[in-house]
Amino acid sequence: MIRKAEIKDIFQIVSIEKKGFHQTLGEKFLYLEFTENPDALYYVIEQSGTVVGYLGFRLHDKSAEMMNFIISQEYQGQGLGTQLLTYLFGVLKSHQIEKIVLEVRASNVRAQHFYKKFNFYESHRMKQYYGNEDGIVMVKEGDL
Ligand SMILES: CC(C)(COP(=O)(O)OP(=O)(O)OC[C@H]1O[C@@H](n2cnc3c(N)ncnc32)[C@H](O)[C@@H]1OP(=O)(O)O)[C@@H](O)C(=O)NCCC(=O)NCCS
Repeated sequence: MIRKAEIKDIFQIVSIEKKGFHQTLGEKFLYLEFTENPDALYYVIEQSGTVVGYLGFRLHDKSAEMMNFIISQEYQGQGLGTQLLTYLFGVLKSHQIEKIVLEVRASNVRAQHFYKKFNFYESHRMKQYYGNEDGIVMVKEGDL
């Protein structure tokens, strides 16, 4: 099931991030996003009642900036990321969003491959965006 993220999900989201990414947006950041940012859009995907992934955006006029996207390691490669992202395309369309922008680590070839399947293209590279590593900015525009 895919549904809007709630405050009660923050602990599980952060735990998935820490395991899979070794870094997290953090409890406080997410709490503020969920409670005080009217332009934030965060969704979770559940399996048997457990949150196994989440995807978040910030909306700016007709653009959406992807804040984070992760599926719990043991659930990756089963189509859940595809389900969640495709669902969010629909939600973003209902907000009149025409462009999605995201940053991905240069070394994260798997995620880049994943995004290209959904017609994201590589816009430009940001030198040392992740401290020791370049970031690649990917964009999807037009009909989401
Ligand atoms: C990127 C991510 C969200 C995709 O979610 P997912 O549920 O694993 O994706 P799906 O099962 O829907 O797979 C779709 C595509 O992902 C890629 N993929 C999934 N598992 C893969 C694997 N084990 N090896 C290589 N590519 C893989 C493939 O392109 C796959 O397409 P295919 O089915 O045609 O081969 C997930 O892998 C993840 O959380 N990765 C770690 C966090 C991350 O990198 N987030 C993005 C930050 S910008």
